[in-house]
Amino acid sequence: MPRKKAGISSHAFRVRYLRRSREIYRRFLETKPWIKQMHSTFLGLKPGMKIVDVGCGTGDFTRYLASLISGKCAIIGVDIRAANIRTAEKQTKKEGLAGKITFRKGDAYNIPVEDGWADLVCCRTLLMHLTDPLKAIREMSRVARKGGTVAAFERGRFPDFPIYVPNDERLTKLAIRISESYVDGVRKLERKHFDIGNRLPTIFHEAGLRGIMAEYQADTYLTSDPRRRLEDVRDELVFYLATLKETKNLDVKAMLAGGASRKNVNQYNAWLEKWMKNLLDDNDKLRNDTTFSAGGMVLAAGRK
Ligand SMILES: C[S@@+](CC[C@H](N)C(=O)[O-])C[C@H]1O[C@@H](n2cnc3c(N)ncnc32)[C@H](O)[C@@H]1O
Repeated sequence: MPRKKAGISSHAFRVRYLRRSREIYRRFLETKPWIKQMHSTFLGLKPGMKIVDVGCGTGDFTRYLASLISGKCAIIGVDIRAANIRTAEKQTKKEGLAGKITFRKGDAYNIPVEDGWADLVCCRTLLMHLTDPLKAIREMSRVARKGGTVAAFERGRFPDFPIYVPNDERLTKLAIRISESYVDGVRKLERKHFDIGNRLPTIFHEAGLRGIMAEYQADTYLTSDPRRRLEDVRDELVFYLATLKETKNLDVKAMLAGGASRKNVNQYNAWLEKWMKNLLDDNDKLRNDTTFSAGGMVLAAGRK
């Protein structure tokens, strides 16, 4: 299920997961070319641009941005973890993009780039992990030139239904309630807003940005979708199942803190585990299952 996981403990598993999920997500996007078009238009990407990607991690989004610009550009990826920067540099060289992208270790609250350098300063799934997102947006704005753009891609929470369990209204409602409790619980326990997307226009405005725009991109999950390779869908389920086992205790703690009852949490987790195992046991079932879920990403941008 497309729920953001807090952490995966086994290093080997994590490395394999990250490498494979990068490849899976890239292919997922290839089935939807309009998303690249949307990102490129929304961010106003053009040859010659100077860009900073804050909280770049291992550089997936940074390289994705470079791939959307034909011709020259200068992109700086910044992340607080030195290990991420090393992996990002290695992968970027491997993909032949080192001429367009460089990386620096640094903090979103103190970005190691001079005032007004960039045409575009952006981040993807960074603000949801920060306890003071407004401070980070102000700092991103400092790095943007006058008239430049600050943009963020973050998960949101919208009143549409994130999941449909075929012909089971009770379970559908339970899954929706549990996912809301999880987001509320993470906010209570860790002061992180996993639904920060909804607040982005407000935060941008508070940071002094103007001409604020917002879009909503929904990623959909349907194991029967023939546009996706069977092995990609299977691998995704294997990873979800493994992360569910590894993070179950932490997730349950958040769900309970967010107001779900233990009985409901147990019911939901038991269903989720059984559903994934059943599909992994039988490819025919997997390719005919119509459990449908979606995860939304808000894109917001404002001008300095
Ligand atoms: C969910 S990952 C997103 C990575 C990347 N933006 C992407 O979309 O693939 C969040 C990243 O933010 C980084 N991060 C967390 N706190 C940070 C901070 N204060 N300053 C800079 N980076 C930070 C983490 O190290 C991690 O790489």
